[in-house]
Amino acid sequence: MSYRVSVLQYQPRFLEVQANLTKLTEMLEKVESDLVVLPELALSGYVFSDLSEVTGIAESIPDGPVFNAFRDISARKDMSIVYGFAEKAGDMIFNSCALVNPDGTYHVYRKIHLFNREKLFFSPGDQPFAVHSAKGGVKVGLMICFDWQFPESARSLALLGAQIICHPSNLVLPWCQEAMKTRSLENRVYSITSNRIGTEFNGELSEYFTGMSQILSTKGEILIRMNETEEAVYTVEIDPSLATNKAVTERNNAISDRRPEMYSLR
Ligand code: ACM
Repeated sequence: MSYRVSVLQYQPRFLEVQANLTKLTEMLEKVESDLVVLPELALSGYVFSDLSEVTGIAESIPDGPVFNAFRDISARKDMSIVYGFAEKAGDMIFNSCALVNPDGTYHVYRKIHLFNREKLFFSPGDQPFAVHSAKGGVKVGLMICFDWQFPESARSLALLGAQIICHPSNLVLPWCQEAMKTRSLENRVYSITSNRIGTEFNGELSEYFTGMSQILSTKGEILIRMNETEEAVYTVEIDPSLATNKAVTERNNAISDRRPEMYSLR
């Protein structure tokens, strides 16, 4: 089965949701794909100084205007879209991502492993990892940025049947892009890490984001990797059915050879 997957990399303008949505809409307009992944907190930027900034840009699902804009694009372009956003849910705000599908279905993942100052503003995800259908019934698992640090994240998604891990990110540490090769390889799944670029300065704090967004094969090979500065969308053709073959050798299987009774995971 041939399936087009895309990764988008860009620099959002801090707290300028409407300007960022306009730019993302323009970038997506040119894309011909089945599934595209955008960065974590793609509409707002990242280096918040106080909670009021986060509440100011957070939106609830399914009534949020950004969510509905992406739903329209998804239907018009006939492609699934995964994007990161701040989710308002009652009194809580989650660092979430949404999968929106051309048939109108959608799913939200709330980041389970919060990174550093995110703990000042966001509640940790309150629902376990789950796998969902994207366009064409392809099984995708959602995880966000620092979730990569915990092998259990990608492993859970693989055990649940993910063929592609969609991984919106705002990466500031230097290790993730290389580490994701192992996440793909050990689970035999494709992974799409969409990172942002640029330096964001909020008057007091500054973060540099490492770009190098990438799409990896089920063997951890780089199918596309961007540089640290470009704003672009790249598309590659993959065969999601390869992710259902977990054979490593004639006598080894990446999943069924596991010995859970020998592991200490708690
Ligand atoms: C991160 O989780 N945004 C580093």
